[in-house]
Amino acid sequence: MKPDVQIASTESEWVKLASSTIISQSIETIQKRRLFSLVLSGGSTPEPVYQSLSSPKNRGLLDWNRIYIFFGDERCVPPTDKASNYKMARETLLDSIPIPEENIFRMRGEIEPEEAAMAYESEINHFFAGKEKRFDTILLGLGDDGHTASLFPNTPGLTESHRWVIPNENPYSNSMRLTLTYPAINSARQIVFLVKGEKKSKIVADIIQNQDGSPGYPAQRVRGKEDSPK
Ligand code: 6PG
Repeated sequence: MKPDVQIASTESEWVKLASSTIISQSIETIQKRRLFSLVLSGGSTPEPVYQSLSSPKNRGLLDWNRIYIFFGDERCVPPTDKASNYKMARETLLDSIPIPEENIFRMRGEIEPEEAAMAYESEINHFFAGKEKRFDTILLGLGDDGHTASLFPNTPGLTESHRWVIPNENPYSNSMRLTLTYPAINSARQIVFLVKGEKKSKIVADIIQNQDGSPGYPAQRVRGKEDSPK
């Protein structure tokens, strides 16, 4: 599946592009399937996009009762820690929208990582019980090393081919993360990379141009799945 690359020349245009992509996908998906499962990415890049989604102008466009929020990865810290992706999402989005608490599925970074990963995977399985097990939209970031979610270069997480949620190490800080895996990411109906800045644009160019998979960034193993014929 060929990626649809959209380039914005200013931050505000970039935010508008990103939030309108999410809003339109949410409206279309809810019309089709009555619910929309959205996986949030972490880090700092998506913050203005989440603030845009929760702005008075946009939040009324979304049917939050039918939107279900998941996380693509989490640092193994408490939800109150400044490094927590959940904390960032609460402050930029979740605390400003009328979404039922039961529609938010938090990765529990404060408990033992393997236990947290297994618990999250069973929450996902329970959510998709009786439905096709695939997220509607997954937002992903991109690291300067080409990692995405918490799938870092040369880490065991890159080879996980069955589980949807695993603990994986951030080799730069020797700290543990929880992350969705390629099976979980690549089954999504829509995958949206939110990338900003000159530095990362070279990585994006490599990913798009090098169909042979070189130089082997983790983000290059993200592959959209063609929608099964209706
Ligand atoms: C995280 C992420 C990670 C992030 C990239 C980019 O928990 O940090 O999920 O994959 O998206 O590292 O981070 P920035 O957006 O902060 O550059």
